[in-house]
Amino acid sequence: CFTPRSYELYNEDVDIVVCIDVLRATSAICTAFEYGVKKMIPVATLEEAIEYRQKGFIVAAERKGQIVEGFELGNSPRRYLDGEFDGKTIVITTTNGTKAIHTARKAQTVVIGSLLNLDALSEWLIKQERNVMLLGSGWKETFCLEDTICAGAFVDQLQQSGGFRSEFDSTIAAKYLYLSAKDNYFGYLKASSHRRRLKALNLNEDIKFCLTPNQTSVIPILRNGVLEKL
Ligand code: MLT
Repeated sequence: CFTPRSYELYNEDVDIVVCIDVLRATSAICTAFEYGVKKMIPVATLEEAIEYRQKGFIVAAERKGQIVEGFELGNSPRRYLDGEFDGKTIVITTTNGTKAIHTARKAQTVVIGSLLNLDALSEWLIKQERNVMLLGSGWKETFCLEDTICAGAFVDQLQQSGGFRSEFDSTIAAKYLYLSAKDNYFGYLKASSHRRRLKALNLNEDIKFCLTPNQTSVIPILRNGVLEKL
């Protein structure tokens, strides 16, 4: 499913939804857990984020790629690398990623996927033997290349496991985009909209980080509206 907007069209018989926002929300979430964050509360709106901030929570808030004024953290995965937030709970709102999580929140199981946890999450999905939706966050409800490529990477691994079947051409499209991109994600995405947007904000290091697969084996899972490590 390329964007949250088409969620209902693909949702029939789905057991597990994998929310994907490679640049950068789901990469940031995976990294936060890898570096010790205990819980994350994804919220869809800035209003909710402000309420949590007023209650004293640490809040990460991003819009248009930037930290929202007045908030401590934005959406850079590299912000978690020094372990400063070890053991903490962080509330997070982003332009698209947390909206995708919000859209999927009523699914039986919601997990967070990125290139960073590609192998670990693929292995887990294969073991579940359940119906999976790979949900790209897109950009403001439009198609985005990096989420689709990441979804294609998951498709590739699930397909190799043998027990794989998909009814949707979008699955085939994602797989082919992944195959074209896999040897050089950074170069392949050169002209893509969010890479250009983040580059203009001097966030090239974030892009490179998010496009480096398998940096963690954490699988963040949503339980009662809160993300925690599986
Ligand atoms: C989002 O949720 O739209 C993105 O993660 C935006 C960003 O790169 O900060």
